[in-house]
Amino acid sequence: MEFSIKTLSPESAKTGCVVVGVHTAGELTAAARRIDQASKGALKKAARDISGKTGSTLLLHSLPGVAAERVLLVGLGDKRTKEAAYRDAVRAAANALKELDAKDAALFLVDIRIGSRPVSWNVRHAILAMQDALYRFDQLKTQNKANGRALAAVTLPLSPKAELQHALREAVATSEGSALARTLGNLPPNICTPTYLADEAKKLAREFKLELEVLERKDMEKLGMGALLAVARGSHQPPKLIVLRYNGGAKSKKSVAFVGKGITFDTGGISLKPAGEMDEMKFDMSGAASVLGALRALAAMRAPVNAVGVIPACENMPGGAATKPGDIVTTMSGQTVEILNTDAEGRLILCDALSYAERFKPDAVVDIATLTGACVIALGHVATGLFANDQKLADEIRAAADDAWDRVWQLPLWEDYQEQLRSNFADFANIGGRPAGSITAACFLARFTRNLRWAHLDIAGTAWKSGRDKGSTGRPVPLLVRFALRHAGRG
Ligand code: BES
Ligand code: MN
Ligand code: ZN
Repeated sequence: MEFSIKTLSPESAKTGCVVVGVHTAGELTAAARRIDQASKGALKKAARDISGKTGSTLLLHSLPGVAAERVLLVGLGDKRTKEAAYRDAVRAAANALKELDAKDAALFLVDIRIGSRPVSWNVRHAILAMQDALYRFDQLKTQNKANGRALAAVTLPLSPKAELQHALREAVATSEGSALARTLGNLPPNICTPTYLADEAKKLAREFKLELEVLERKDMEKLGMGALLAVARGSHQPPKLIVLRYNGGAKSKKSVAFVGKGITFDTGGISLKPAGEMDEMKFDMSGAASVLGALRALAAMRAPVNAVGVIPACENMPGGAATKPGDIVTTMSGQTVEILNTDAEGRLILCDALSYAERFKPDAVVDIATLTGACVIALGHVATGLFANDQKLADEIRAAADDAWDRVWQLPLWEDYQEQLRSNFADFANIGGRPAGSITAACFLARFTRNLRWAHLDIAGTAWKSGRDKGSTGRPVPLLVRFALRHAGRG
């Protein structure tokens, strides 16, 4: 999809479809009013057939006095449009447009005011919401593929200021990074293995001139990554530690590090999971996918930031060589861990990856992981769980998440919770019991990040959807990109 910014008037725009908004009670937006005047009241009359409810749509053909072939009326809900309603309306417009034959469209929804958000916010979110709705994953279907999309170009009718062109570039790159993360998440676990993730990183390195290093099992052994290796033991797939660097900023500037959980399938290991919905554990590499997506986005937009991605990738399988409950391993940090539940594997691969990340002397480290089912219980599918050992970093991430509409909610990381991890036989255990499961998982990671400014994002509830719309969401790519830009002073 091609996006561009151009001054257009709704009645004279020569395009396949003009998209305008209507609020509840039939109140037209400014662009809709102009169409109404040009068509001598035809729009107002037709608008009686649309509720104005957010996301409702009504398609009109060949209105007199209007150059475009079609006019798509989209409901915006309440007069004071909120962020979520705006994004829902754009998504509804995209869904309606993809059913049409129109090759191009002009989205006049972009000029409405959303609270105190600048117009650049509208530009970014119009593109992100639209691309989100147009995304398809049908490469493995031989039948019932989505029909070839006619829609090839969308104009955002605004006067082309540098600041808006910038927002457009950022949003296009972010949506492509997000689509990459979604596709990696959606791929089945027999295709998307640790080796596949490493190959994908190679492709990105080649296309965007990124620095890449892939550590193999023997390298991990040399580094003493006993926890990561313990998880990989049960699988026939070799583990990989992928390190991808994008240096778009000044040499003197420190980097941000993103560490993504890359369990390409989580059976639970010897602490085997129940069969129901186990297929969804192919999404357990969503943290890794979001790191690749975010780095791709930053590189594609040539963002002036330095970022390093660290991805521990392996499968968590049962088997004769698999780690057993009660096994004690020595982590790269030197601390010993009693593995009481092999299904708490995410923290085991992350702890060694976080220790490894220290060597880059990053300014801040953010890990991203589908870490705990408890986080889904706490926050559902709306907010990602946020934990941090530095409140300034937490506040920065929260603000970026709000800006990206890829929201997070902070949970405490108090020392009081640490005692739940006590072990009779090792320095500590890898589980802390049922109460506050997401917090004790974060507390485990905190023991490996004492030398870092660190935040942890638990995306167990937000990385994918279940049920009829089962599939990856691409979250939190928009948040990571926005955070990296704001952190570098490019807000
Ligand atoms: N990948 C899972 C977490 C998960 C479960 C995410 C369900 C989304 C939906 C993780 O590796 C896991 O199994 N965690 C355990 C931890 C427990 C054994 C302490 C969990 O949440 O049950
Ligand atoms: Mn698990
Ligand atoms: Zn897992």
